[in-house]
Amino acid sequence: MARVLVTRHLTEGGTDPLLHAGHEIVASPEDIALTDDELKAQAAECDGMVCLLTDRIDEDVLRAGHAGRLRVVANTAVGYDNIDVAAAHALGISVCNTPGVLTATTADLAFLLILAATRSSSGAETDLRQGRWRGWGFNTHLARDVHGATLGLVGYGRIAQAVAHRAAAFDMEVLHTTRHDTGQPGFVPTVDELLQRSDIVSLHVPLSESTFHLIGAAELALMKSTAVLVNTARGPIVDEDALVDALHAGMIHGAGLDVFEGEPTLNPRLLDAPRVTLLPHIGSATIDTRTRMARLACQGVCDVLAGKTPANLVASP
Ligand code: GLV
Repeated sequence: MARVLVTRHLTEGGTDPLLHAGHEIVASPEDIALTDDELKAQAAECDGMVCLLTDRIDEDVLRAGHAGRLRVVANTAVGYDNIDVAAAHALGISVCNTPGVLTATTADLAFLLILAATRSSSGAETDLRQGRWRGWGFNTHLARDVHGATLGLVGYGRIAQAVAHRAAAFDMEVLHTTRHDTGQPGFVPTVDELLQRSDIVSLHVPLSESTFHLIGAAELALMKSTAVLVNTARGPIVDEDALVDALHAGMIHGAGLDVFEGEPTLNPRLLDAPRVTLLPHIGSATIDTRTRMARLACQGVCDVLAGKTPANLVASP
């Protein structure tokens, strides 16, 4: 029997793989974030760890775990930029994530933002709620069409492809760009070309040094003044100050964001920016999907502790 730290409360049944394998679960009764010191202390006393994307698993935490008996860290998320994977691998600690199980749910949410931002529904709803609606108006709340628009996907992994699948039902033309030619219809070789040609741009790349502020002032300037930017990936991929400037200047039509640079702290300028829909990082937030994510993360820990190679093992960077 091994000891496995589960840093936060998961959905009901989420830890079943750990329980079925007979592992002891270490969890605090309150569902609050552990401090860095608490994480280090707990890591030092466990064989495995199931964490969230809000837990920063840096080299110090990993070293503390390594000094004990930590063998595996499983992130209950598909993105793992919160974990120092290079340090983990150097210390012989495996890292797992939750690919696949959240694809459709996150693609649904990306499409929600595509629709909301393109039709400016948040601004229309705010007018209604704040008593500014004077009745059906021929020239009021005029926005842009989603159907027939050109959708540009930055990144073409599972979630981007699921968004493309949904876009087909909206009669959209779909472009995509990645570092390597996919050889598939709609591939464009550069982000710049994709930005210039798209009516709606949706971001689906992981956060890394090379994608930090991938969309900044220069890139926003390439977009059509009628275009919309959607980010369901990671906040720091977009330079938020540059985005706010672009919205105020009318350089783009609107934006839909589920992720933020300093989340959960919001750039106050975003709250006052025009034509922007903001959601609190709920891309994968359905009961079924969160439970699948929890079980997959826990299964990864069980597999590593049983000496097997989990399907959701993160490769070395
Ligand atoms: C959510 O943002 C995830 O990476 O799973």
